[in-house]
Amino acid sequence: MVVLDAVHDIQRTQAGDLACRWNCKAGKCGSCSAEINGMPKLMCMTRLSELPIDKPITIEPMKAFPVIKDLINDVSWNFQVKKQIKKFKPRPPDAPDGTWRMAQEDIDRVQEFRKCIECFLCQDVCHVLRDHQMHDRFIGPRFLIYAAALEMHPLDVEDRTEQLRNAHGIGYCNITQFCTKVCPVNIEITDNGIIPFKERVVDRFYDPFGWLWRWLKRKSDRLKR
Ligand code: SF4
Ligand code: FES
Repeated sequence: MVVLDAVHDIQRTQAGDLACRWNCKAGKCGSCSAEINGMPKLMCMTRLSELPIDKPITIEPMKAFPVIKDLINDVSWNFQVKKQIKKFKPRPPDAPDGTWRMAQEDIDRVQEFRKCIECFLCQDVCHVLRDHQMHDRFIGPRFLIYAAALEMHPLDVEDRTEQLRNAHGIGYCNITQFCTKVCPVNIEITDNGIIPFKERVVDRFYDPFGWLWRWLKRKSDRLKR
């Protein structure tokens, strides 16, 4: 029996109007996110047998987003954020038939980020959103790895570094790794997504040699024109 079964049982026997969101009951749709005994988890993937039953089990809605009713949060802010991230922009095709060539290892690197089920548990546990409510300045771990999947894609030529540093607030993340710990599909959010991004931002904006090289290159490009 999982926590979602218990909630359905309560709905059936005691509180017909108890609101909860779910869809797959298989850890795939990301709908049933909640805080179980204070920990962000999927209700359908948390077995009652794993929880201490010598005291009452608490089930609450996520704290980082407004509550609509009972266990249902309004997570629409996340979809607004997603729209702001620069879209995939592939380089021109490599072959005359309009196809591209990619190394398997480059694809493997971004595949991990595509496992995300958008449960937003990582957003919920992130202290920048949860405790400081800085939704207007920080996009959160979910969208840092969404941007990582685009930015590290071998065909993508868009540059999101400036957007990440300014509008998306990557500097607010101080790598506590709670997001990685709660991710139900085990994405290494911090090590494989956020840290490489932070290094990119540092190289781009704070490395004096990199800055000098880019300045010289811009100057020589201008002279060539
Ligand atoms: S990265 Fe993991 S925790 Fe965050 S939204 Fe995706 S699946 Fe959920
Ligand atoms: S009901 Fe789909 S992830 Fe829980």
